[in-house]
Amino acid sequence: MSTPVEPIKVALLGCGTVGTEVVRLLHEQADDLAARVGAPVELTGIAVRRPNKHRDVPAELLTTDATALVARDDVDVVVEVIGGIEPVRTLLVDALSSGKSVVTANKALLAENGGELFTAADASGADLYFEAAVAGAIPLLRPLRESLAGDRITRVMGIVNGTTNYILSAMDATGAGYAEALEEASRLGYAEADPTADVDGFDAAAKAAILASIAFHTRVTAADVHREGISSVTAADIAAARSLGRTVKLLAICERVTDDAGTESVSVRVHPAMIPRSHPLAGVGGAFNAVFVEADAAGQLMFYGQGAGGAPTASAVLGDLVAVARNRVASGRGPRESAYAELPVRPMGQTGTAYHISLDVADQPGVLTQVAAVFAEHGVSIAAVRQEGRDNEPSASLVVVTHAAPDAALRSTVDKVAGLPVVREVVSVMRVEGEEQ
Ligand SMILES: NC(=O)c1ccc[n+]([C@@H]2O[C@H](COP(=O)([O-])OP(=O)(O)OC[C@H]3O[C@@H](n4cnc5c(N)ncnc54)[C@H](OP(=O)(O)O)[C@@H]3O)[C@@H](O)[C@H]2O)c1
Repeated sequence: MSTPVEPIKVALLGCGTVGTEVVRLLHEQADDLAARVGAPVELTGIAVRRPNKHRDVPAELLTTDATALVARDDVDVVVEVIGGIEPVRTLLVDALSSGKSVVTANKALLAENGGELFTAADASGADLYFEAAVAGAIPLLRPLRESLAGDRITRVMGIVNGTTNYILSAMDATGAGYAEALEEASRLGYAEADPTADVDGFDAAAKAAILASIAFHTRVTAADVHREGISSVTAADIAAARSLGRTVKLLAICERVTDDAGTESVSVRVHPAMIPRSHPLAGVGGAFNAVFVEADAAGQLMFYGQGAGGAPTASAVLGDLVAVARNRVASGRGPRESAYAELPVRPMGQTGTAYHISLDVADQPGVLTQVAAVFAEHGVSIAAVRQEGRDNEPSASLVVVTHAAPDAALRSTVDKVAGLPVVREVVSVMRVEGEEQ
């Protein structure tokens, strides 16, 4: 007769959009999960703020005292889906320090205090898994952390925020302005009442920090990420992109950069950019996420799927829970933090980017020469120029697309061009990505 296996006991912190789905999946798939793990997976307790709100959950499991729940001797794994920094940071450091494994979906905390959590996990030998923190249901962190651990990742570029992708997709499809598209997204539930974290790029920047840390074996925090949101993207920007066979996306871009002296650094940034309509990321519409990874040996890889929502995010949480539970059953441990490379973060001004600049200029001879001279003066090489006069008007449209140059040089170029007497208006300035340079 075989000895009964001890169950893996789980404390769930938070039971909102994601937590509710975690509880449902744990219940509905209990037998399958037990078979996959090699031991039953049982909920010991669920910490919430307002227990009266949670009538679908067995009342005996609910508590408002998350600290006491985490400290219980019969808890093996803590699953955190509350969000934010405190009190979660303290709760998770306590859990890890006492040897309890942690599964979390909390991108903000990982991007700000990931190092502290990993240190606590290493000290006790506990696991820290966080697949759901970036791109919801899409298996992305585990492929970067494990499947590509033998390769050299050079670039990770993706759409990691569904709200902004929904807004930009709507602007592209209908010609609507930013405010109108945001209003529609809020009405349909794609944008939160306070959309700041999404539209100003904070959410994407936290995810970029996590992606860069894993891809480049270096600690990168949210503060290291150059961040620009989408609130200044205009209908004119979208129209300019469209007229050149491009579309505008909010991109999280993590790059390994080697300078002329052979010194390596990482560039991590979030900003809107024009990409060719033929690029794989251009077809990612609505609230979907997609991430494009380039590695020396693997070449190009694309990850695509639902980047948010209760059930998709819970799928990633459950995958992590099965992994840490299996590790417990086998008395083993998953991968630790890998930050040995300690690459410096390159300032945005020194990062090479390419610009698309759309100008309204006087329709007279010599304008192009004057504009081109400013680019040459700043060492910015021009990749393409298109000038079109307008019928019965003394102005013309001049579009310049540059080759990659340091971002600071491009900014100075635009400032100087804007001051030329022949330039009536700078209609649109947008970075260009995904083109062969
Ligand atoms: N929603 C998504 O699509 C998604 C996608 C990816 C990642 N995430 C991440 O998943 C996490 C949870 O997101 P969510 O959308 O599920 O949040 P949510 O719906 O706001 O739920 C938060 C839960 O935490 C509980 N809570 C808040 N403060 C607490 C405290 N001090 N002690 C105990 N419980 C507390 C709340 O209790 P009450 O219910 O009683 O108020 C609620 O159940 C966040 O880190 C988020 O970034 C979410």
